[in-house]
Amino acid sequence: MTNTTTDIQADSAALSTRVRGVHRQYPTGVTVVTAAVDAKPYGLAVNAFSSISLDPPLVLVCVNESSNSYGAVFASSHIGINILAADQIDVASVFAKSGGDKFTELKWELSELGVPVLAGVAGHFELEVKYKIPAYSHTIFVGQVVEAASADKAPLVYQAGQFFDGTRLEPVR
Ligand SMILES: Cc1cc2nc3c(=O)[nH]c(=O)nc-3n(C[C@H](O)[C@H](O)[C@H](O)COP(=O)(O)O)c2cc1C
Repeated sequence: MTNTTTDIQADSAALSTRVRGVHRQYPTGVTVVTAAVDAKPYGLAVNAFSSISLDPPLVLVCVNESSNSYGAVFASSHIGINILAADQIDVASVFAKSGGDKFTELKWELSELGVPVLAGVAGHFELEVKYKIPAYSHTIFVGQVVEAASADKAPLVYQAGQFFDGTRLEPVR
């Protein structure tokens, strides 16, 4: 029996649901990817962040081309990765919304490299962008870490559409 277009669409919808279900099982931190154009700051919440290697220190973030901040991130030689702290759920909400000036109500500064760095974060990296890899709707930005700083603060954790308090993680053993 041959598959009809309706069957194929149903299979694809079912796979999409299963894909989302698996993603929901995977906890991440929450970062704010920042960039500045003519000293004007842009940023968005991103959990598609990963370390690639320590030597050289490479990391990656994936940014949707439809986001308002995309043009600024793409145009910048240096970008920031701000790792949000457990007490920064309000900051996460600001950067999860699209457009507008997200920085007016926040403490932040422009680093020597011209990268917006948020105050109160658990840590931040400044990257020199090395590769921009197109991946359908997203671009994978690979950057070499040129500055890094961490604070003694627990991270904000994200899983299955909810934020969790990283100060209350229990070691398994
Ligand atoms: C927890 C969380 C994680 C997110 N991760 C990503 C991501 O990895 N990449 C991405 O492009 N957007 C991600 N988003 C969505 C953007 O933050 C969202 O679309 C934002 O409104 C974009 O802002 P902008 O259009 O002003 O740039 C995430 C949102 C949340 C709440």
